[in-house]
Amino acid sequence: MPDLQRLTDAAVNKLLTEHALLHELLEEADRVTIEADSADGLLLGLQELREMMHEQFAREEYGGYLQETVTIAPRYSTECEQLRHEHRLLLSDIDAMLDDLTHDPDGTLGTFHVRFREFTTRYLNHEHHENAVVQKALDDDIGVGD
Ligand SMILES: [Fe+2]
Repeated sequence: MPDLQRLTDAAVNKLLTEHALLHELLEEADRVTIEADSADGLLLGLQELREMMHEQFAREEYGGYLQETVTIAPRYSTECEQLRHEHRLLLSDIDAMLDDLTHDPDGTLGTFHVRFREFTTRYLNHEHHENAVVQKALDDDIGVGD
């Protein structure tokens, strides 16, 4: 099924490109968390990050790799469901950071850099999990196919 393979390659390439864009934003946000002496800059950066992540997760879920993976390899649907769940958790992590920066900026700033690093690690683990599921589904599909 050459069409399926072409579609899937496109979804994987798109996924990797979007991950690279988010890495740049995460690095930028990391720099801001080191230098920040007020919550204002952080709030703006985090809001931008949240918006980008929200859009990326939506693309992954609707018409992106998650939907494709379930279509070509339904046995990964539980793992895909877990990845969707992780999207919700990551967004609520950002919401909690935004909330704390808004309501208790002084109390939040002191430990914010560490907290943001932990969030970045959770995000990167999610991404790693995501790439691994897509790779497994692709390998299986190619293995079983023609
Ligand atoms: Fe994701």
